[in-house]
Formats: sequence, C-alpha cells, structure tokens
Amino acid sequence: MGVTNITRREANAALLASVALAAGAALAAEDAEAIALPPPRSKGGKPLIEALALRKSTRDYSNRPLPLQVLSDLLWAAFGVNRPSGDRTAPYWRHIMVIDVYAAMADGVWLYQPKRHILLRKLSADIRTQTGLQDFVGTAPLNLVYVAHGERMQDVSPQERRLYASVDTGFIGQNVYLFCASEGLATVFRGAVNYEELDRIMQLSTDQFVTFAQTVGYPRN
Ligand SMILES: Cc1cc2nc3c(=O)[nH]c(=O)nc-3n(C[C@H](O)[C@H](O)[C@H](O)COP(=O)(O)O)c2cc1C
Repeated sequence: MGVTNITRREANAALLASVALAAGAALAAEDAEAIALPPPRSKGGKPLIEALALRKSTRDYSNRPLPLQVLSDLLWAAFGVNRPSGDRTAPYWRHIMVIDVYAAMADGVWLYQPKRHILLRKLSADIRTQTGLQDFVGTAPLNLVYVAHGERMQDVSPQERRLYASVDTGFIGQNVYLFCASEGLATVFRGAVNYEELDRIMQLSTDQFVTFAQTVGYPRN
C-alpha cells in the first residue's frame, strides 16, 4: 500500500523522536498499531466550480495504490478536523459525532481518527470484496466504510437513527466526490452492500451499523 505500519515500539520511538506530525497526531503507547498520516495539504486542488463540473461516479478502477499523502488529504477532506473547535469538514447531526470512517485496504481495515489524523488498525484481513456487491470493490485500492454509532443517537427511533446517520454520511460522501474530482481520482458512493455480513465481518457492536460504503482509486484508462 505504500503506507507505514507503526508498531507499539516504533510508536514510542516516534514519540521520543518528536516526529513532526499533524497537530495532535503523535502516536501514543496504547496505539496497538497505527499509521501516522502526514499532515493534510492545506493548499492546491481545483477551484470548486471545476471540481463540481468534474464530479461523477466511476466503476472501473486501476489497482494502483494510493500514496499516503493522498490518503491523508482524502480522509481530511472526507471528515477531518477543520477548526480549533474540533469540528469537521462535513456537518453532522445535533453536534454529536455519530459516523466513523473506516478505510478497507489490501493490508486490512483501519479506523480514521480525525482529531489525531491517524489510522488505527481494526482488522488485519483484506475485506475489500465484502464491502460491496460489485466486482470492482475487491481490486480498487480503497473502500471507505461509513459506520454509525447508534448508541449515541438518543431520543430518536431506529428509523430516525438510520435517517440522520445516512444524511451525515451523504455529506462526507460528497466531500469525497469533490476531493476525487479535484485530484483526478475515481470514486463511487455505494448502497449495494450486504449490511448484515459487513457489520459482522467488521466486528461492530450491536448498536453500530454500516450506513454506506464508497470506493476510491485511480480510474483505469
Ligand atoms: C444513496 C446512494 C446509493 C448509491 N449506491 C450505489 C451502488 O451501490 N453502486 C453504484 O455503482 N452506484 C451507487 N450510487 C451512485 C449512483 O448510481 C450515481 O450517483 C448516479 O447514478 C448518478 O451518477 P453520477 O454520480 O455519475 O452523477 C449510489 C448513490 C447514492 C446517492
């Protein structure tokens, strides 16, 4: 994948060496296995109007991996922290953080932690094929899996939980679409998912549920 896996020992070494990471991204000793993402680029990209003109869904992907910097920029664009308050690039329901973004790649499944701008390993297995019902999901380098914490959505019915979690996810998905349009990447937001199976494979708690998935990669020309 071109990403750097950092074990607990290496993480400690990284801390001692005071490696310059994104704000708050220093790895802690309790991080079993993490990827320290480089700080997201704060400049560049196409003007918004051009990105809107280029936004589209793509279903034909090269298996070329995404460079770590691109992964960093993408995750920040998706749902990263964009203000000192800790708020995000996408709006979210009742100011309650409900959605987690997971990155399913060849080397496993990683949880994006926006505050520290790191990835934490969730699973070691390559579950890309199980993130959807279409062929390309198994070979594209990245499938984002959006997971809702139902237990954080108090005072609302299960239907409303699904509704608000889906809306939150949609905003993130559009951020990803626009980032991809700006960077010449391919993407498609996906609801064609075997939800029961994916919830189980991802070892989600009973109140957590997958809302949608989204494939990202380079277009196959
Ligand atoms: C809620 C939602 C679910 C979607 N699910 C899938 C899907 O499972 N598979 C897929 O190939 N495209 C899926 N799409 C993408 C749409 O098919 C696509 O956005 C639409 O055909 C318009 O094409 P465009 O995005 O290129 O403008 C989904 C889009 C949305 C908003």
